[in-house]
Amino acid sequence: MNTVPLFQALPDNECDEFACELSEGLRMKPRQVSPKFFYDAAGSVLFDRICELPEYYPTRTEIGILTTHAADIAASIGPNAEIVEFGAGSSRKVRLLLDALHRPQRFVPIDISGEHLHASADVLREAYPALEIRPIVADFTRPVALPPRMPGHGARVGFFPGSSIGNFDPHEARRFLRQVANQLRGGGLLIGTDLIKEPAILHAAYNDAAGVTAAFNRNLLVRANRELGADFEVDDFAHYAFYNAPLQRIEMHLVSHRSQEVHIGDETFHFSEGDSIHTENSYKFTVEGFHAMAVEAGFRPAATWCDGQRWFGLHWLEAPA
Ligand code: AVJ
Repeated sequence: MNTVPLFQALPDNECDEFACELSEGLRMKPRQVSPKFFYDAAGSVLFDRICELPEYYPTRTEIGILTTHAADIAASIGPNAEIVEFGAGSSRKVRLLLDALHRPQRFVPIDISGEHLHASADVLREAYPALEIRPIVADFTRPVALPPRMPGHGARVGFFPGSSIGNFDPHEARRFLRQVANQLRGGGLLIGTDLIKEPAILHAAYNDAAGVTAAFNRNLLVRANRELGADFEVDDFAHYAFYNAPLQRIEMHLVSHRSQEVHIGDETFHFSEGDSIHTENSYKFTVEGFHAMAVEAGFRPAATWCDGQRWFGLHWLEAPA
């Protein structure tokens, strides 16, 4: 069983972050790489395609919840809010939120990819001329200094949709929530979580018939070959995703079909047949379990909106002043 967090904080390294973390992860047993490296340009396109797949219900379910409960969500958050989005995800979701809110004052998207961030900020500026848009290029898993609050602004509200919290292991998730509860004192966090459900439905969402999730997973190796000059035989690694029920998470792996050696720079990595690289955890939650975690982190859960099947939850967590 994997007890090492995928999202561990590594020291600021001299070499390229991807190069360092990949070679470090491949030397661990079990081998592991952080899912944050999925999202180069090609990986981001593949992720957008995943969100359109018939089997991948989370995106459309969360959009449905945001649409159906827009008025209640806006009433909970209150007028003149400042929205801080962790990860510049689908601007479709934040637009639904902005459209529902009463006179939102400021939008602060935080993302590690500056190019993507500034491009989507420009599009939003066109669409929301009255809104102040202040993108911050940063790794949101670490504390980020926010612009000073303005007099007359309402609550400072975090937005973390998509069940991205599910990529953290429980310890890291609690640490992230605690950090955010501190930053958002007097406001709150609107956060989406995928919910525990029939394993067959979870399994299908990460094993789509068209093979897009497999391509997304293998893109990590494609990226290593292109960016680091590695020589992964990409087709010799199988996409393997399954629901680990006791740990309440989908695990994604890349499993070597055969005994092989891979070179990255001057390092050689040996894979026996069946050896895996653990590339992602995607935790699933119960509403009660997630509330307990939020309370431990210093939040006060005030509302949860779900779809009719209770496949996905959107939570409003108040951060006490
Ligand atoms: C972006 C982390 C929420 O876990 O469902 C989709 C990523 N991985 N298919 C998820 C993902 C495989 C996604 N998150």
